Amino acid sequence: MTERINIGRNGFILPEPQTILGTMIAGRPNFMALAWVTRVNYSPCIMAIAVNAGHASNAAIRDTGQFSLNTPGTDMVEVTDYVGLISGKRTDKSSLFNVQRGVLQFAPLIDECPISMEFDVIQTVDLPTNTLFLGELAATWTREEYMTDGYVDVEKVRPFTLTMPDNRYWAVGAQVGRAWHDGKSLRDTLKPDRSDG
Ligand SMILES: Cc1cc2nc3c(=O)[nH]c(=O)nc-3n(C[C@H](O)[C@H](O)[C@H](O)COP(=O)(O)O)c2cc1C
Repeated sequence: MTERINIGRNGFILPEPQTILGTMIAGRPNFMALAWVTRVNYSPCIMAIAVNAGHASNAAIRDTGQFSLNTPGTDMVEVTDYVGLISGKRTDKSSLFNVQRGVLQFAPLIDECPISMEFDVIQTVDLPTNTLFLGELAATWTREEYMTDGYVDVEKVRPFTLTMPDNRYWAVGAQVGRAWHDGKSLRDTLKPDRSDG
């Protein structure tokens, strides 16, 4: 193998999921591109999002205590990038999408996105430049056409991902395995007396 090199302290897990964050600002929907998101609790479902302190969306979440996460398909790359380039402080982004209401009052849902989720904020953590909002899932919306055998099907949703710091979008590639399954024979070979997981 070649020599391992240290490329510094500005690191990213690749790829990052690409979503659109929805909030309400003074009664008007606002949307921004958001990639810094992950699920952080099994039950209930809690997601953590990291939103820069200067963004209009940050103030909106603090104000209302709610937000939505919308998963755009690859046909929405351009508009997703657009809502990541301009701020709701200066530009009204509310009419870019067909906006729906779900079960929460301040979590605008993007009808064009195959998946939309609504969250109540349960905890807020101020970090040096960003705020970590922990949101508990109130509802998940999709359509039958995005599902196979009762599950949301990534091949039908066609989400896209982001790489940083080269700033490129990527489609999801081919399936390479099955989770909680493909390690089983190795588990049984290496630790035949254990059956956990
Ligand atoms: C691809 C992409 C991903 C982004 N991800 C995030 C993110 O995870 N967190 C964040 O604070 N800003 C992120 N941004 C920047 C915001 O989307 C951008 O600054 C936006 O204009 C803020 O809008 P607002 O002021 O209306 O809230 C991202 C931008 C792009 C283009």
